[in-house]
Amino acid sequence: MDIASRPSEPAENTAVANAAPPPAAPAVIRREDYTPPAWLVPEVSLDFALGVDGTRVVSDLLVRRNAPGQPLRLSGDGIAAREVLVDGRPSNHWRMEGADLVIDLEGDEHRVSIETALNPAANSQLMGLYASNGMLCTQCEAEGFRRITFHPDRPDVLSVYRVRMAGPKADFPILLSNGNCVASGEGPPNENGEDTHWAEWHDPWPKPSYLFALVAGDLVATSDSFTTMNGRKVDLNIWVRPGDESRTHHAMRSLINSMKWDEEAFGREYDLDLFNIVAVSDFNMGAMENKGLNVFNTRYVLADPETATDGDYDAVEGVIGHEYFHNWSGNRITCRDWFQLSLKEGFTVLRDQMFSAAMGSEPVKRIEDVRVLRAAQFPEDSGPLAHPIRPDSYQEISNFYTATVYNKGAEVIRMMRSMANFGAGADRFRKGTDLYFDRHDGEAATCEDFVKAIEDGAGLDLTRFRLWYSQAGTPRVTARLAHEGDVATLHLTQEVPLTPGQASKQPMPIPLRLALFDRASGKHGGEQLVVLDQAEASFTFPGHAEAPVLSLNRGFSAPVAIDAATSQEDLVFLAAHDDDPFARYEALQSLIVRHLVAAAAEELSDDERFTGRHAIASAIAAVLDDTALDDLMRGELLILPGEGYLAEQFAQADPTAIRREREGLKGWLAQALLARFTALHDRASAVPFSLEAAARGARKVKTQALVYLAAGAPEEAARRAAAQYDAADNMTDRQGALMTLCGLDTPGRAEKLADFHARYAGNALVIDKWFSLQAGSLHGDALAHVKALADHPDFTLGNPNRVRSLYMAFAANPAAFHDPSGEGYRIIADLILALDPINAQTAARFVPSLGRWRRIEPARAAMMRAELERIAAAPSLSRDTFEQVTRSLG
Ligand code: ARG
Ligand code: ZN
Repeated sequence: MDIASRPSEPAENTAVANAAPPPAAPAVIRREDYTPPAWLVPEVSLDFALGVDGTRVVSDLLVRRNAPGQPLRLSGDGIAAREVLVDGRPSNHWRMEGADLVIDLEGDEHRVSIETALNPAANSQLMGLYASNGMLCTQCEAEGFRRITFHPDRPDVLSVYRVRMAGPKADFPILLSNGNCVASGEGPPNENGEDTHWAEWHDPWPKPSYLFALVAGDLVATSDSFTTMNGRKVDLNIWVRPGDESRTHHAMRSLINSMKWDEEAFGREYDLDLFNIVAVSDFNMGAMENKGLNVFNTRYVLADPETATDGDYDAVEGVIGHEYFHNWSGNRITCRDWFQLSLKEGFTVLRDQMFSAAMGSEPVKRIEDVRVLRAAQFPEDSGPLAHPIRPDSYQEISNFYTATVYNKGAEVIRMMRSMANFGAGADRFRKGTDLYFDRHDGEAATCEDFVKAIEDGAGLDLTRFRLWYSQAGTPRVTARLAHEGDVATLHLTQEVPLTPGQASKQPMPIPLRLALFDRASGKHGGEQLVVLDQAEASFTFPGHAEAPVLSLNRGFSAPVAIDAATSQEDLVFLAAHDDDPFARYEALQSLIVRHLVAAAAEELSDDERFTGRHAIASAIAAVLDDTALDDLMRGELLILPGEGYLAEQFAQADPTAIRREREGLKGWLAQALLARFTALHDRASAVPFSLEAAARGARKVKTQALVYLAAGAPEEAARRAAAQYDAADNMTDRQGALMTLCGLDTPGRAEKLADFHARYAGNALVIDKWFSLQAGSLHGDALAHVKALADHPDFTLGNPNRVRSLYMAFAANPAAFHDPSGEGYRIIADLILALDPINAQTAARFVPSLGRWRRIEPARAAMMRAELERIAAAPSLSRDTFEQVTRSLG
């Protein structure tokens, strides 16, 4: 049932003259072409006869006409109908049109019944119904349901589902679907003489097909319960493979916290008596919000101190929250069409960010979220795959589960929240979301519906703000502060860069929180919000006898790039005095970014290098010495700007120069502040393990200290890392130590890698770390290590987590991936070609790393482009990879 290549239209003309048969270009789906469904499906009843390598499905649809004169068109993908009944009788009035099953129907209401047969074991794409370690599970978002049965597989067709499943008891002791289990029992022995059983599930909430889920397998639950604000007792289960139960407690705690938080923060109550989560080890993405039956990648469920880092704990909490919050932002109100994806994803990311901030440290969470945005979304927005948070067209929707739709989508809603709430003394944003949930409950809505509800509920005028939904590209804002008499004047300009398919841009409303600091007192007279909604504007601020220091875009109030030409002196001032934690972080980052960019561009005189490094050293020393900082924030402030973000500052980056300068600065700082870093490592190492913030902070700075020492005092670092590794009673310390050793040429490297591998043999998630640490390391031979690891017996293309652990870590390791030989590009292109027929969705995720070619220096750019062309010339490509490669070359 798996077909990797799904050409649906004849080629328009993509072919190069000498290529063999031209690849068929997949159809382009456009937002403007939306039409309501011709037929609705109020009820679906599914009957599954389960088997790992043979499952039979009978789907019974109650269909109701919604537009005159149209046949019933049901999507399929790689499946065949064995029988079609209309109103209980075999029908001849159906035909296949491409992959669609089309039935001519008179009248307005019918029952249509279709039988299909699947082979879950052969489904390596992990979309539709597939087998993972002997268990059966489904992934239907976005268009996986059509790989199970023929259906109007679009999010604006909502149905009440009844699901019956039967199968051998020994293989599938646990049978789960959406909603509530309404009946179950023993069945007759099957043809192999095995005992069978069955279960029937009913989900009272109408839902689109992408939220359908089924799980069958040998699973054990950790159970608890939650009583909602109106007294509904909800049974909670987290289902895992036997043996993993002890690692589910953090996920359960996170789930309960999510349910409570959504009641308090958004007034959202859970709406069934049962909530199931299942962990599977083969999964394309992070997790899936199927109604009442969330399916998770094991890496976002399983956690204990021995095998999960503090970062893993945070990720589990965030993703558990994210999927739970979808119950309202996604399930109760879903999307009209897939162009509206950010309606549910952007909003739900904002909700999970707010939740994590409430559970931990708000400023640290904000800094982390901005770091992710800059590392993942800014490059997307400035490259060939740039798209608005509400895209206008696609060939394969799976390619649009992006940092833009998710993270920038969250930032856009966060801006509305800031504009609604700034200085309001009340949560006006919440009035907007209340209205949204009220107005659209039970509907398949649009981004426009959301904006309108916020506008009406919060009392904002978002007319021009809607441009954030339609225009791609990260706006660039320049800020210049002038001072005359006792008036400071801020002159702002904005430019939205051109992006593919958008040849002209309009200025967008950009809400900027700012403060003007008095140099002498180190204080400011209150934060203000200005909204720059023109190409340029000036704002005046009286009452400043001296020229103040500008703190702009505080809290990262707008997802823009700022050029404020702040002097080095003012950046040092803000890094020491700004009372907005994000702005303080940002000032320090700007100081370092500016220095490293000039250094990598070879624009620094010896003198400038010297003064630049000393300014950074005194700022870092202040961070190390500031007793008012907690360690979680200190650890954040110590992280140097990432190589990817530094590369973004160049029209054409030289990854070698960036690595050289960044490591050079780090090493110089380590030597200049050696006693401080060793003292920090000593202090943090004395803090006993706990999951409390102070102990987590200690672990964070402990590894940061090693990171610096490794660059400036490698022998000291190797000794300390080996000792930290041996003494570790938790994965954060052990992974931090091993990461340090991985980057060094020291005998401890091989020794501890071997120990780690042996110690965690059989624990897939930890073995993933073993691959990642080596592929992502600062070691000069990382490229050679990756080549060797590809032949390691533990490596397989069959498991997406394992593939990502090796190759995503490698593609994100600039010095290795951008090896001047071009070998890194060849490795990733070979991977894409090998993986595409097995798992197209995962293969296509690697294309953007090569797609950045225009932003890399010319010699490498040519090699990257050549690899994209080699992929494009392959005789058959999935729609996923085809789209990403052609857009990257275009
Ligand atoms: N809706 C899921 C989430 O963000 C993502 C599922 C996407 N799956 C896919 N195959 N594209 O929580
Ligand atoms: Zn989501």
